[in-house]
Amino acid sequence: MASVLEIKDLHVSVEGKEILKGVTLTVKTGEVHSIMGPNGSGKSTLALALMGHPKYEVTHGEILFKGQNIVELEPNERARLGLFLAFQYPLEIQGVPLGRFLWAAKKAMMEQGTDGPTDKKADAKALSQFRKELQEKMKLLKMDESFAQRYLNVGFSGGEKKRAEIVQMHILKPEIAILDETDSGLDIDSVKIVAEAVNQLRGSDFGALVITHYQRILNFLKPDYVHVMIDGRIVRSGDESLVHELEAKGYDWLMNKTNNNAKVMER
Ligand SMILES: Nc1ncnc2c1ncn2[C@@H]1O[C@H](COP(=O)(O)OP(=O)(O)OP(=O)(O)O)[C@@H](O)[C@H]1O
Ligand SMILES: [Mg+2]
Repeated sequence: MASVLEIKDLHVSVEGKEILKGVTLTVKTGEVHSIMGPNGSGKSTLALALMGHPKYEVTHGEILFKGQNIVELEPNERARLGLFLAFQYPLEIQGVPLGRFLWAAKKAMMEQGTDGPTDKKADAKALSQFRKELQEKMKLLKMDESFAQRYLNVGFSGGEKKRAEIVQMHILKPEIAILDETDSGLDIDSVKIVAEAVNQLRGSDFGALVITHYQRILNFLKPDYVHVMIDGRIVRSGDESLVHELEAKGYDWLMNKTNNNAKVMER
């Protein structure tokens, strides 16, 4: 059975300012959705609110994942349920090597619900398996092995940070992944590498919400649904053909529509 992320009439405020003004969207495993929209329209706000960033306050509406309202859950609890967010601006963490960070994240996911004594032998086996897996994933994303020893994102180029996010996604194997502009800052070949890595996870047990400004990654991903967010609302949804329409016409025609709607509502 598909796992479902259901966003119902979601309103989100940041520092007292309402940014999301009623977003309704359902993403199921097996599906890839894309959200496009002008700068500042609320795409990252949606991503961060879904993951439970403490600054983003849900003032109205619901976020259901696998039938459970997750609004009150901590980010790590949401991750354990199978949600993942690749950040638009990945954080740099001094002193924590990428490999160790990923192992800690993986271990936290494996240990869900077990507080019992740890088995050292099993631990060592899991660690050696993890090292092998990490090597494979870094190869898949064409990242040099030496990155595993470097502090998380510190001194990584923009594109290297984005690829490291996708390595993390592959290690954690979420059911629903939110990718916030993972393609921004990637060179032409890297967009393809990242898209292929996303496509490799695709199947009945994986779904994604891909936030992007560009058609290029969507040409590789072929999303099932495309949504346009303007001023904190989804103003249009369609299939992949909507991407081409946006590329040709920009967002103005849809903005006018929201303004007209607002005027009608005011009357
Ligand atoms: N901490 C904050 N304080 C005040 N305003 C904020 C804060 N965080 C976000 N906003 C505002 O919320 C709006 C939506 O921002 P958001 O980052 O969600 O946009 P976006 O659609 O992801 O844009 P982009 O395409 O540029 O990444 C912006 O106007 C932004 O300035
Ligand atoms: Mg953003």
